Amino acid sequence: MVQKLTILGSTGSIGVSTLDVIRRHPERYRVEALCAHRQIDRLCEQCVEFAPRYAAVRDDNLARELRQRLATVSCATEVLSGPEALVRMAELPEVDTVMAAIVGAAGLPPTLAAALAGKTILLANKEALVMAGPVFMRAVRQGKARLLPIDSEHNAIFQSLPDDYSGDFNKSGVRGLLLTASGGPFRKTPLEDLPKVTPEQACAHPNWSMGRKISVDSATMMNKGLEVIEAHWLFNIPAENIQVVIHPQSVIHSLVQYVDGSVLAELGNPDMRTPIAQALAYPERIDSGVGPLDLFDVAALHFERPDFDRFPCLGLAYQALKDGASAPATLNAANEVAVQQFLEGRIGFVDISQVIARVMERIPASGLYSLDDVLAADAVARRMAELVVDEINQR
Ligand SMILES: NC(=O)c1ccc[n+]([C@@H]2O[C@H](COP(=O)([O-])OP(=O)(O)OC[C@H]3O[C@@H](n4cnc5c(N)ncnc54)[C@H](OP(=O)(O)O)[C@@H]3O)[C@@H](O)[C@H]2O)c1
Repeated sequence: MVQKLTILGSTGSIGVSTLDVIRRHPERYRVEALCAHRQIDRLCEQCVEFAPRYAAVRDDNLARELRQRLATVSCATEVLSGPEALVRMAELPEVDTVMAAIVGAAGLPPTLAAALAGKTILLANKEALVMAGPVFMRAVRQGKARLLPIDSEHNAIFQSLPDDYSGDFNKSGVRGLLLTASGGPFRKTPLEDLPKVTPEQACAHPNWSMGRKISVDSATMMNKGLEVIEAHWLFNIPAENIQVVIHPQSVIHSLVQYVDGSVLAELGNPDMRTPIAQALAYPERIDSGVGPLDLFDVAALHFERPDFDRFPCLGLAYQALKDGASAPATLNAANEVAVQQFLEGRIGFVDISQVIARVMERIPASGLYSLDDVLAADAVARRMAELVVDEINQR
């Protein structure tokens, strides 16, 4: 049967890789809806190539422009706009699979809608799960949705856990998770040089080609912190059983330790098309376009403990998970603001962790029971983060 998809964030790095895998298997996949934000040129090209029934963007003016362009090339895709359009695309009755690849908190409402509508969710948008953990997982259970992780680490863990893993790690004989991290571009940079780091340097990841926000998150290692929280929610494993391991080659994508001493891992070339293809075809296997791993080329694999002084964001994320309730939403919102301000040149690289730490100190964790609670916690933390950025700029 042909699998019908909505792709949230089709113009981003994950969206483009997803369409590349789909392009190789036209007999298996049909794109019903493409959703994007600002990159209208790219969205237009994608509509012409994949002929989805719908395309959705937030902005009414951009939607109008896209409609005109599609009309000139006789493309029949219907264009919708507004935040509610994204939610509608995630709930389309004819769609069985939703790729959640919007970056940041903006992806939460449509991804949550996909969960409540019982879709198979290919989850790249880790921020949605980080900020709304208990609310999101309840929606998955309520809607009987299926959650398949796209983050390479979580996808590796998913592949290394037993097929019938039910969320009871003791029963499955799991001792813990080893989450690998490349350490980003500044693993060896002298600490005194970090304040001078530019956005371009921070976005130049040594192994992975990614969007700008996640590239900065990788440079601060907040990405790994968010992934610790993501792993906690996806696999129901406590923070103390999730260890981060620096592995600069990014060949082992993560590992599961069992009580009998066995350690299972997934290895491969660092290319997101592998986890995307694994999740798209699960439980079957399809060609992703990624070449075989050449172990002779790799030659050696290295491992280091993470340096929590060099990467304070990692410690802040563990702290947020320990504090629970709204603390991860606060962490995520403060990080999104700080990263954006860094990319716009308003604060320095080392200020990112300062902003997050001060926001977390000033906002106590509060209960998180509904989407409204999550969005309220997110809004409060964003306002506080902007105040802290102003304070830093007045120094
Ligand atoms: N890239 C990777 O290798 C990778 C690996 C693991 C996990 N992830 C996760 O996957 C997600 C996407 O990452 P990415 O690297 O693909 O990011 P990206 O290249 O920046 O793409 C983000 C996508 O989200 C859309 N978008 C941005 N703001 C939006 C908004 N307010 N409303 C609706 N759509 C919006 C963008 O649209 P426009 O481009 O049209 O503006 C784009 O399609 C992130 O959560 C990231 O952490 C990425």
